[in-house]
Amino acid sequence: MSALRIIPVSLGTRSYDIEVGSENLKQIGTFLAAFQPISSAVILTDENVNRLGYAHRVAESIAETGIDASIFSIAAGEQSKSIETAATLWETLLEEGIDRKAVLVSVGGGVIGDLGGFIAATYARGIRFFQVPTTLLAQVDSSVGGKVGIDLPKAKNMVGAFLQPLGVLIDIQTLQTLPDDQYRSGLGEVIKYGVSLDAELFQFLETNIEKINLRDIVILKRIVADCCRIKAKIVTEDEFETTGYRVLLNYGHTFAHAFEIQSGFKLLHGLAVSIGAICAARLAVRLGLVDETFLQRQLDFHQALGLPTEVPNGIDWHQTTGLMRRDKKSEFGKLRFVLPTGIGSCRLIDDVDPSLIERGL
Ligand SMILES: NC(=O)c1ccc[n+]([C@@H]2O[C@H](COP(=O)([O-])OP(=O)(O)OC[C@H]3O[C@@H](n4cnc5c(N)ncnc54)[C@H](O)[C@@H]3O)[C@@H](O)[C@H]2O)c1
Ligand SMILES: [Zn+2]
Repeated sequence: MSALRIIPVSLGTRSYDIEVGSENLKQIGTFLAAFQPISSAVILTDENVNRLGYAHRVAESIAETGIDASIFSIAAGEQSKSIETAATLWETLLEEGIDRKAVLVSVGGGVIGDLGGFIAATYARGIRFFQVPTTLLAQVDSSVGGKVGIDLPKAKNMVGAFLQPLGVLIDIQTLQTLPDDQYRSGLGEVIKYGVSLDAELFQFLETNIEKINLRDIVILKRIVADCCRIKAKIVTEDEFETTGYRVLLNYGHTFAHAFEIQSGFKLLHGLAVSIGAICAARLAVRLGLVDETFLQRQLDFHQALGLPTEVPNGIDWHQTTGLMRRDKKSEFGKLRFVLPTGIGSCRLIDDVDPSLIERGL
């Protein structure tokens, strides 16, 4: 098995490393021991991930270094990213005597990462945080960049904070147990990096489709490391989303968010991004930013990876533009899109004529 890949995230005093390896969960103890003194490790996971033994392996490795480690397992799914779950966790940590020298370790997908980070940012005015992402989406996206938070009943990710972890440990092997739709959903984010930000990655993906579909460990290690590197670079330049640079990570997302809402969140995020990326490419063709060959290449690519490209039945374009105007990332009700200008390059276009979209893509 090829060696560990380490991606440094340079954020001054908040700098940290992302380690990408395989079967490396047992190394977390050594990784964490560098941050002593640590009074205890609180391992947050969900029931599915817990059943697979990942949290247990993490706990064992931490305990071997002499740090007390306990596992807290919650129900799987987006509904756990709630104020109710957060309140239960705060109370539980208090009852367990968890103090400010503790570290919270999230072992799971984006839900566990976002929620765990939020608890770490708020409990006792903040304790240290570590991430062990186990879904492809969490490995390439949600565990990088420091955004943590929970949902309000009517608005996703509406309450939260920026909190950089002490480190991120990625075990590519954990992807082998992911259900197919969750794996594809992660690929939806991977293609975003390739198509809109990195031509070299796109080419690598295009030439390795078969291996990606077979979840080849060596190929996935390179892909996950590349995505982390791309996101880390953008986050380094716009940590708190103030300069507008970080928005470039949102290729396909303006459409995706509107489709997710209209599906009642039954459509997985990365799959919505896949469809959204095709819509963005179509819009870019209409605006003369790319040609039909670009669109066709992207369509072929998504289809080869088993990613959806067709807008789901029942999508109302008028409602879609309304939702896009109310999107958290929209400014002054304008329609804003990250659109491709070629493979590996994109631009923020923020005054698109709504009738272009209402006529359907
Ligand atoms: N913070 C950020 O920057 C950021 C970015 C993108 C997405 N997000 C958030 O991430 C969340 C989505 O993350 P997700 O897609 O990982 O969802 P998730 O955490 O719900 O995980 C998806 C499912 O996979 C299961 N699972 C996790 N790892 C597994 C494994 N190795 N094997 C088998 N099953 C496994 C989980 O139990 C769950 O049922 C959303 O809440 C979204 O808002 C955050
Ligand atoms: Zn996304």
